[in-house]
Amino acid sequence: MAEVRRSFPGFALGILILSLALVLGSEAAGLRRSGETVFNVKAYGAKGDGRHDDWQAFQKTWIAACHHPWKAKMLIPRGVFLIGPVIFQGPCASPFPLVVQIQGTVLAQTDLSLYMGQEWILFEYINGLILMGGGTLDGQGSEVWKYSDCNVNSNCQMMPMGVKFFRVDNAIIRKLSSVNSKGFHLAINNCNNITLTSLRLIAPADSPNTDGIHLANSNMIVIEKSEIGTGDDCIGMIEGAKNVNITNVRCGPGHGISIGSLGKFPDEEDVMGITVTNCTFTATDNGVRIKTIQGCQPSKASKITFENIVMNGVRNPIIIDQEYNPRGKKLTVPSMVKISDVTFKNIQGTSISQEAINMVCSKAVPCQNIHFENVNLTFTPILGGFKMLDATSTCTNAVGNSFSGTQIPQVACH
Ligand SMILES: *[C@@H]1O[C@H](CO)[C@@H](O)[C@H](O)[C@H]1NC(C)=O
Ligand SMILES: *[C@@H]1O[C@H](CO)[C@@H](O)[C@H](O)[C@H]1NC(C)=O
Ligand SMILES: *[C@@H]1O[C@H](CO)[C@@H](O)[C@H](O)[C@H]1NC(C)=O
Ligand SMILES: *[C@@H]1O[C@H](CO)[C@@H](O)[C@H](O)[C@H]1NC(C)=O
Repeated sequence: MAEVRRSFPGFALGILILSLALVLGSEAAGLRRSGETVFNVKAYGAKGDGRHDDWQAFQKTWIAACHHPWKAKMLIPRGVFLIGPVIFQGPCASPFPLVVQIQGTVLAQTDLSLYMGQEWILFEYINGLILMGGGTLDGQGSEVWKYSDCNVNSNCQMMPMGVKFFRVDNAIIRKLSSVNSKGFHLAINNCNNITLTSLRLIAPADSPNTDGIHLANSNMIVIEKSEIGTGDDCIGMIEGAKNVNITNVRCGPGHGISIGSLGKFPDEEDVMGITVTNCTFTATDNGVRIKTIQGCQPSKASKITFENIVMNGVRNPIIIDQEYNPRGKKLTVPSMVKISDVTFKNIQGTSISQEAINMVCSKAVPCQNIHFENVNLTFTPILGGFKMLDATSTCTNAVGNSFSGTQIPQVACH
């Protein structure tokens, strides 16, 4: 017995050392599984203790994975990884999409002086990317929001965004959470063919400019099955947003799903082919909104559909605002953004302001072909106790409107 007792721990220790050596060896070299090589940030020196800055390890892991000529995966395992700003730049060597799997939590540094650029994590010049893994990106925005004056100063310095994709094509972003980003959670600029699915983007209702997804100059974008509740737009689309499908998004709190502001910059690209279907808005400032700035250069926003939308206690369920002015004062010069072919179909629920539909189009270029079909919005003031009033609408400078099915409230344009 004594003999067995003595030899057993030795044997177990041997196995342990052997397996440890195997794990460490294969991690450093990259673990092959179904032809895929895994590049684990821990094998490149990441501590994952939430205290040391693992920025360098992340950068080295990316470079190794991106240079790998075959199937590669960058792995951020369970643990808490603190990092400052990092750039994941392509082009990568493999003909297969590079997989970045985040299982743990990635925490952003809170010292704003570290952020030279506009973002915390930048993916750029990549063709083929799969970013997934069930993990969380934590921007630690609550440490810095107090330094933002963007609610009162329109020329303010924006807080760094969480993750930005710039010139990334053919990508899937799936099953990730982003909480408390300093600025926007996700930004998509100059990208083609990106699907974002099963995301959770969360920040408090009073956090400044924490838009969920901000999209510009991008084509063929799908956003689906996601929960977005922030202090600003759940999804904001500006110039050059084309062929965007948004479905099954639960939005709130926040400012709703917005197209605009359009007309902010000279020579803006048109916005075209935006479809928002099967979405729910709860306690948001706006539901579906198009806003354009006064006195801007001409551009167009067309072929926009909002369909099967539920509004739960939304302040402005349907709103087109062409007299939007971020500086607050109304100008006399009209907006030059032409809005046409917009459909609002199967939109129901409750508005906490009486004016449930609010369309203020441009005097210079009136809205054209706005179609309303089965719209039923009820006015339910937040403070009970007063008598039920019907919801109302306003509509100015819109031509060629059409209507079918239920119209509550009725839209009368003049
Ligand atoms: C879009 O990207 C996905 C993911 O990389 C890819 O499978 C698909 O083929 C791409 N679609 C087009 C039209 O290129
Ligand atoms: C958006 O949906 C429409 C209708 O289902 C489809 O024809 C189109 O290809 C979709 N666009 C994208 C970018 O997936
Ligand atoms: C929206 O929901 C309806 C009804 O549940 C369903 O038939 C339709 O396919 C859904 N559309 C999208 C784009 O998911
Ligand atoms: C409109 O919605 C209200 C509240 O949900 C409902 O009671 C009413 O029957 C609806 N009207 C029509 C015409 O669908």
